[in-house]
Amino acid sequence: MKKVGIVGLGEYLPEKILTNADLEKIVDTSDEWITTRTGIKERHLVQEGQATSDLAFLAAQKALKNANLKPEDLDLILVATITPDMPFPAVAAIIQDKLGAKHAAAFDISAACAGFVYGISVAEKFIASSVYKNALVIGAETLSSVTDWQDRNTCVLFGDGAGAVVLSEVKKGGIISTYLGCDGSKVGILNLPAGGSRNPATTETVRNRQHYLKMQGNELFKIAVNTMTEAAQTVLKQAGMTFSDVDLIIPHQANERIIMAVAKKLGIPKERVYLNIERCGNMSSASTVTALCEAVEEGKVKKGDIILLDAFGAGLVWGACVIEW
Ligand code: ACO
Repeated sequence: MKKVGIVGLGEYLPEKILTNADLEKIVDTSDEWITTRTGIKERHLVQEGQATSDLAFLAAQKALKNANLKPEDLDLILVATITPDMPFPAVAAIIQDKLGAKHAAAFDISAACAGFVYGISVAEKFIASSVYKNALVIGAETLSSVTDWQDRNTCVLFGDGAGAVVLSEVKKGGIISTYLGCDGSKVGILNLPAGGSRNPATTETVRNRQHYLKMQGNELFKIAVNTMTEAAQTVLKQAGMTFSDVDLIIPHQANERIIMAVAKKLGIPKERVYLNIERCGNMSSASTVTALCEAVEEGKVKKGDIILLDAFGAGLVWGACVIEW
């Protein structure tokens, strides 16, 4: 099997910023509540008319440039998203056309906040087994399009954005271990109830606000902490490593309290945890990848470093990955 690594990265965050002070004018909330309960101060939101593929495309262009590759070099495009432009076809197909990636197969992955880790895990297998040479994996969301701006329990949490990586064969380092999991018995505690085949769109579903994301946040909190802790332990064990080997953990950014509780359980000091939640909120599948892009850009990831990605979200699904940079 070939060694597979990340050879290019790029992110795009929409220009519009919604602060906690702005939210105070929309729902009954406060900067103090949002900051202390979540760690979020502001989030980026799309302009009217901007869709997930628009964000994904800009992130993808940057990642390709960073990898020194042309669109024609791509064999595979995967887009992790739960907010596609439309139910079908896939955002990945739109990106394939926009980029002009004539030789690439393309499909979407619906694994919510773990989508990017699912994506790199799938792409890695194609390259490791010599089926493909170069893959583009994107995590992109416009969660603002499924956010109920009248529900203070959820609307303060989410943001829009996209990040992309290019995976290719590497001589040294690269992806050491991946671990994916799912517990589908808890579909009900985080979902978007209508608009699919179970509850097709009707005037009643619209009136009942069923086209917005619903979440039992409190119930999820404990599960998120335990699951992310276990996923990190499992993937490191698979890699034959311990937490002292990890230079930086880049977790899914749902809640700073969840992240810090996981780090505490794992015995990883705060300085070795990367956060962008304060500036971006929870961007589901775009969170882990944009945090990775920013950590690299800020020089927090150096050649030879061991990084741990750890994500959890609706499904419930989870995924973790150990990479030697
Ligand atoms: N402003 C002010 N008060 C609020 C707000 C708000 N924005 N939202 C809720 N409250 C109130 C509640 O009404 C409640 O009031 P009450 O005690 O009078 O009933 C009180 O604050 C506490 O509410 P909780 O829900 O218990 O607050 P909690 O501390 O659990 O924080 C949160 C809520 C931030 C959602 C947290 O539970 C969380 O982060 N959960 C996990 C989310 C997660 O991991 N999701 C998975 C990934 S996302 C994905 O896959 C798309």
